[in-house]
Amino acid sequence: MTKHIGILTAGGDSPGLNAAIRGVGRSAQDHYNMQVIGFLDGFRGLVDNRSIRLEGGMLAGILTRGGTILGTGRDKPHRMMFGGKKQDMTDVIVENYNNHHLDALVCIGGGGTQKNALLLMEKGINVITLPKTIDNDVGMTDTTFGFDTALGIATEAIDRLHSTAHSHHRIIVVEIMGHRAGWLALGSGIAGGADVILLPEIPYDLDAVALAIRDRVRSGKKFSIVAVAEGALPEDRAVRVKAAEEARDKAKDDKARKKAKNELIRLQAEHINHTSTLSRQLEELTGLESRVTILGYLQRGGTPSAADRLLATRLGTACTDLIAQEHYGVMVAARGENAEPVPLIKVAGNKKLVPPDHSWVISARNVGTSFGD
Ligand code: F6P
Repeated sequence: MTKHIGILTAGGDSPGLNAAIRGVGRSAQDHYNMQVIGFLDGFRGLVDNRSIRLEGGMLAGILTRGGTILGTGRDKPHRMMFGGKKQDMTDVIVENYNNHHLDALVCIGGGGTQKNALLLMEKGINVITLPKTIDNDVGMTDTTFGFDTALGIATEAIDRLHSTAHSHHRIIVVEIMGHRAGWLALGSGIAGGADVILLPEIPYDLDAVALAIRDRVRSGKKFSIVAVAEGALPEDRAVRVKAAEEARDKAKDDKARKKAKNELIRLQAEHINHTSTLSRQLEELTGLESRVTILGYLQRGGTPSAADRLLATRLGTACTDLIAQEHYGVMVAARGENAEPVPLIKVAGNKKLVPPDHSWVISARNVGTSFGD
C-alpha cells in the first residue's frame, strides 16, 4: 500500500529546512514510492487545510536555499488565534489529517514544535519530528540543523567587528540570538575570539565585565569584543527571574500564578534594550567608547552551510526509513554519525542549555575569555 505523508515546518526559520524537506520528500518518493504533501505556514496550514503536493519539480533546486518553501509560523495547535480568540484546534487538525488519508505527519521544528507534535501524537496522529533551530537547544540530539550556518555567520561578524574595534580603540558589544540558550554566543564567541562572552546560563556581574576590559587596556589592548546572548542577565535580575519562574511553577491558585506571570512580564520589559544599556554602562565604567551591533535575523537567513545540508539530508532520509517501518512518535536525533529515533515524550520540554562547566566554557576560560562571573 502506498503511504501518504504530510510535512510542515514550524517555529523560527532556520537554514537547512529546505534540505530536510528535500531529504524526506525525495527519499519518500524515489525510494519508497510514498506520496508527499506539504502544509503551508506551520500548524496553521494544517488547520486551514492549505497544502501543496511536493512532487519532483517542487523539490528541485531547494537544497541550497535558505528559509522554507512551505513557510512557517509560531502557532500552537492547542492555543491558536482563530476567529479573534485563542482556540484549541487539535481536533480540526486530526480531521484534516484523516481527510488527507495521511499515514504520518513530519513536523520539522525546534523545542516548541516537539511539544506541539507530542500533543498531536496524543490525539492519535502518527507524528515524527526533525530537530532544527539556530539555538541548538533541543534535548536528546547532538545538534540541530541551522546551528552550524548561524555559527558561521556570527563568527564572521565577530571577525569583521574586530578590525573596526581595533582601529577605533573601542568596545563593541555584539548581540547574538539565543533567549534561553547561549550555544550560538558561546560557539561564535570562542571561534571569533571574543574577549567577553555573556550567556543566559551564566549570570554576569557588570563590574567583573568592566574589570576584564580594563585589564586588557592595562596590558596594551585598547579594544574589546563583548559577545552577548539575547537572554544574558545580570546577576540581580537572574535571581528575580528564577524566583518568579519558581513561583509560577509552584503556584497553587490562579491568583498566585497571575502574580508570578506579571512579575515575569515586568522583568521582560526591563530586559528590552539590555544590550544598549550594557554598552553604555561599560563606557562609564571603562572610559572607552562603546558601540552596539545586533546581528538579529541575519543569523537565520541565507544559504545553509555544507554541514547543515548534510545533517538535514541525513535526518530527512532517516525519517523516511522510520515511516516505512511505521516507527512513529519519535524525533529523529543526530547521534554521532548516526540518526536515531528518540521518543517524543523524552524530547518535549527537554531544553538543552549550556552547562556552566561545559568543555567549551572551560576552553574559553583557558584562553582568557571572561564570562563576567
Ligand atoms: O528560536 C530561534 C530564534 O531565532 C531565537 O534565537 C530568537 O530568540 C527567536 O527565534 C526570535 O523569534 P522570532 O522569530 O519570533 O522573532
